[in-house]
Amino acid sequence: MNHFFGKLLNYVWMFCLKVTASLPLIKEPNLFEGENSSLDLVDDIAGQNHKSVLIVTGAGLVRRGQVQPIVDRFEKHNISVTIFDRVEPDPTFSITNEALDLLLENQCECVLAIGGGSAMDLAKVIALSVSNKKRPEKLTGYFKALRKPLPFYAVPTTAGTGSEVTVISVLSDNQTKSKSFVIDPRTASLSTALDPTFMVTIPPALTAATGMDALTHAIEAYVGRNGSAYTDEQAMEAIRLICKYLPTAVADGSNIEARSALALASYKAGLAFTKASLGYVHAISHQLGAKYGVAHGLGNAILLPHVIKYSAPSIENKLATIAKAIGIDQANDDTQQLAKRMVEFLFDFNKEVGIPNHLAELKEQDFPGIVKDAMSEAYFNYPVPRFMQEQQCNQLLQQLLPSAAA
Ligand SMILES: [Fe+2]
Repeated sequence: MNHFFGKLLNYVWMFCLKVTASLPLIKEPNLFEGENSSLDLVDDIAGQNHKSVLIVTGAGLVRRGQVQPIVDRFEKHNISVTIFDRVEPDPTFSITNEALDLLLENQCECVLAIGGGSAMDLAKVIALSVSNKKRPEKLTGYFKALRKPLPFYAVPTTAGTGSEVTVISVLSDNQTKSKSFVIDPRTASLSTALDPTFMVTIPPALTAATGMDALTHAIEAYVGRNGSAYTDEQAMEAIRLICKYLPTAVADGSNIEARSALALASYKAGLAFTKASLGYVHAISHQLGAKYGVAHGLGNAILLPHVIKYSAPSIENKLATIAKAIGIDQANDDTQQLAKRMVEFLFDFNKEVGIPNHLAELKEQDFPGIVKDAMSEAYFNYPVPRFMQEQQCNQLLQQLLPSAAA
């Protein structure tokens, strides 16, 4: 797309999205926090008079016995439980349809996701499918559903996507693995439990990648053009918590205080970006995921310092505010110095939590396709603070090549 028309389209469409996001359509879930809060959530669901529930989860959680206490609690309330435990990373339309068929077969009255972003996204889509009598394929894009979804509840087991509060669900094409988005302001969970007991077994690399995904959500929401006082406050709190607790959780996964803080940070980052949207980190990272299967959080983490460095001239004040909030400011720093310090911090923070400074899979011959698709995604979806042209995106990718980082 021509850069001039891309920018024009972006300004008009982002303004429309900002107006939509300011309407009271997106509601914050009822929140339960702390160890075993997932059981409090079950009690809350029982209080809604549901007679049956579909639990959407992964086989690993069931095998490790982590789902059983929740099932037992439902049964204590005489609520019949059906379990769909075939969720895998990047759920496809065919897996989503299988879960939908199971829900229909058992006439479940509500959906509870226990898992990461994949379980929650799949659950959100089938909840919307049932009430609108539309297959998931017919719901992709913006606002394709007429009716509100079946009641949806969430127990996130990773601290990264914030999907429990967002209005976006991501599904993959069965063959090409390309991503499709279902966007509806009513798909956020009605109630969520941030239960750290589900998170203590997450290995360090995944803790780092998911935490950096949440940090990217918060920073992109904060520095983009569609922020508000509300989203700024949520984003800033998420940034503070992640900068303080992510290194601890990576070093000691069993630290409940750090796990709880990161779960809350991911939740708050989700609240921020579902209204204020994202930016080039996500636009480029999605292409790296589609092309090479790079994990979403890892791609974001590697890209984040580079994209913020590129954007810095347009967001110095905001970067300076973040630098002060996380306490990396020094006496007599001016705004420019603070912004520079913030960019350096992001490169160092990646190192501290074990994120590589390059992308092993990246190949220069793939740049044209990655750049074209990333630019297109950004024009249509993100209120970026400083626009990139293809050449600038190319230059940014050059810095991620293994040879550049060596
Ligand atoms: Fe993300």
